[in-house]
Amino acid sequence: MQVAIDGPASSGKSTIAKIVAKKLGFIYCDTGAMYRAATWLALRDHINLDDASDLLKALDDVTIRFEPTDDGQLVFINDIDITHAIREPDVTNNVSQVSALAPIRTEMVKRQQQIAEEGNIVMDGRDIGTTVLPHAQVKIFMTASAEERAKRRYAENIAKGIMTPLSQLQDEIVARDHKDSTRKISPLRKADDAIEIDTTHLGIDEVVAQILEIIQTVQ
Ligand code: C5P
Repeated sequence: MQVAIDGPASSGKSTIAKIVAKKLGFIYCDTGAMYRAATWLALRDHINLDDASDLLKALDDVTIRFEPTDDGQLVFINDIDITHAIREPDVTNNVSQVSALAPIRTEMVKRQQQIAEEGNIVMDGRDIGTTVLPHAQVKIFMTASAEERAKRRYAENIAKGIMTPLSQLQDEIVARDHKDSTRKISPLRKADDAIEIDTTHLGIDEVVAQILEIIQTVQ
């Protein structure tokens, strides 16, 4: 069983996908974390992003892996724990440039499809229903207003000690969505057969319940 959850930045995909996967005993794959890991590597090694080949070479030498914990997962590049570093503003504000590079996408999609071969999976991102898992039995497109998404990101950031002002966060979210949905390769878009859930006025439990219900109908 494959559950694909796509949607714009901070729409709640990862929070929801993680809970749904845990409840069902499925693998959870956060594909955004993989593009963030690639961006972290590029920034750390001062890799020029005008040409994807240097980053591709650097990626060839490393493994990006997830380690489940009670309340989520840790993200590693080789043995370096980058879980928190990949949520910092420098990575967030550069990730759309990295994810628009065709060779990087080809590599990431290959890795994501390999992870999906390991068993039942919930995978979230931007192109899961359209490109990575086009035959997923359940496809969700999760949205929320930009104001609500900025508020959620603001609360998350404060908890992590990241102090970006709310209005700046909203501008950054809108800018990232624009880049992600206008890029040439696999832009953010709802798959024709995806079910759209607007989470603006919904709590986490309500969204989880809706998705579990949808999954039940195809099981
Ligand atoms: O989901 P998250 O906000 O962590 O994703 C970070 C970025 O990674 C997105 O803004 C997008 O540029 C890229 N991404 C992508 N395709 C995916 C998942 C994420 O291009 N499947």
